Amino acid sequence: MTRYAHVTGWGMAVPDRILTNEELSQMVDTSDEWIVSRTGIRERRIVGKGESTASLAAEAGARALVRTDLSAGDLDLVIVATASPEHLFPATACLVQDSLGATNAGAFDLSAACTGFIIGLNMAAQAIITGSIDNALVIGSETLSRLVDWEDRGTCVLFGDGAGAFVLQASERPGGVLSAVMRSDGSGGSILSVPAGGSRYPTTHETVSKKMHTIHMNGRDVFRFATRVMAGATREVVERAGLELDEIELVIPHQANKRIIESAARGLGLPMDRFILNIDRYGNTSSASIPIAACEALERGRIRAGDHLVLVAFGGGLTWGALAMQWVAPEAKVPPSRRRRRAVTAFFARVRSVVRRIIRIIEGLIWGASSHTDD
Ligand code: ACO
Repeated sequence: MTRYAHVTGWGMAVPDRILTNEELSQMVDTSDEWIVSRTGIRERRIVGKGESTASLAAEAGARALVRTDLSAGDLDLVIVATASPEHLFPATACLVQDSLGATNAGAFDLSAACTGFIIGLNMAAQAIITGSIDNALVIGSETLSRLVDWEDRGTCVLFGDGAGAFVLQASERPGGVLSAVMRSDGSGGSILSVPAGGSRYPTTHETVSKKMHTIHMNGRDVFRFATRVMAGATREVVERAGLELDEIELVIPHQANKRIIESAARGLGLPMDRFILNIDRYGNTSSASIPIAACEALERGRIRAGDHLVLVAFGGGLTWGALAMQWVAPEAKVPPSRRRRRAVTAFFARVRSVVRRIIRIIEGLIWGASSHTDD
């Protein structure tokens, strides 16, 4: 039996707080006119107190799950693609696994900056196609506002926070993920980086005072790299899928800069109406930008059953990649019974998490005390 990996659920979560270009122009030497003309961004979402990469990821993941006939316990794998993880470890994906109550799932984070969602989707799809797993949740989630230097006008105007998620399920029905291209060039790593906080530059007073924990970027170099790779990766993934470019109904590109997307469209000879654009409202949400754009396209009916889609991204690393898929329509509307189920599941996942923590404390008291006694 040939197995296929289909997207059966999708969900997004963005913070309520909107930061406009106008507000930014009060914070640094910039203007709405400059930001819109150079990037296409008008506003972005910024997390508030109590929100984080894991909380956005869990919310998007729960929304994606509720569209499917799966419960969290049916998931075999949770991947969170992120450049702004909750911690160095534990993985953000483990926090999401616990929060959703995905008790049978392996979980890990995927670090490939803005290309992470595409790579995560391909990893999960291949695991499904080979029969290793049946159901996976792939999330792109970011709180880049926490890594931005809010005094650097060259970067702080670009990024925003948010999360988007896909549920992938095994099926015998042809379609779903068709092909993927994954590439990297570490020689360009310093073009876009957060230099400190890892093992190379552990946190010191000096790294903090030199702002080495914030995003450092050579915008022009990233721009040149991006315009070079976007069209090439798209062509390659379409060819690998055995398709022609004009059979692609929709391209969902990473939302980093409207001009980069326009340049890719020109390079491919495709009209801009085949590209999903929502950068004006969210800015660059890195690994979350493609699933957020996909969720909005689905909500607006821009993706229909049978459509061939290409997702294409580039980012820090340097990394870039593309994925071709044929959309096979799941039910767009969520029945109220599933919404109720989601609330109940979320409640029990919280209770389960608390109980497990209490058991761990009790075990620590018992075994900790006895091991001291043994000494
Ligand atoms: N407001 C006003 N002026 C600004 C701003 C700002 N926010 N930022 C830079 N400028 C100035 C510069 O200082 C420069 O002034 P100068 O000529 O006096 O030196 C001038 O504007 C032009 O600067 P450029 O860098 O040439 O501007 P450019 O047209 O290249 O646009 C931008 C800059 C928007 C950053 C562009 O290069 C870009 O989008 N690059 C790609 C960035 C990107 O996609 N990064 C994310 C990658 S994905 C990931 O992995 C996270």
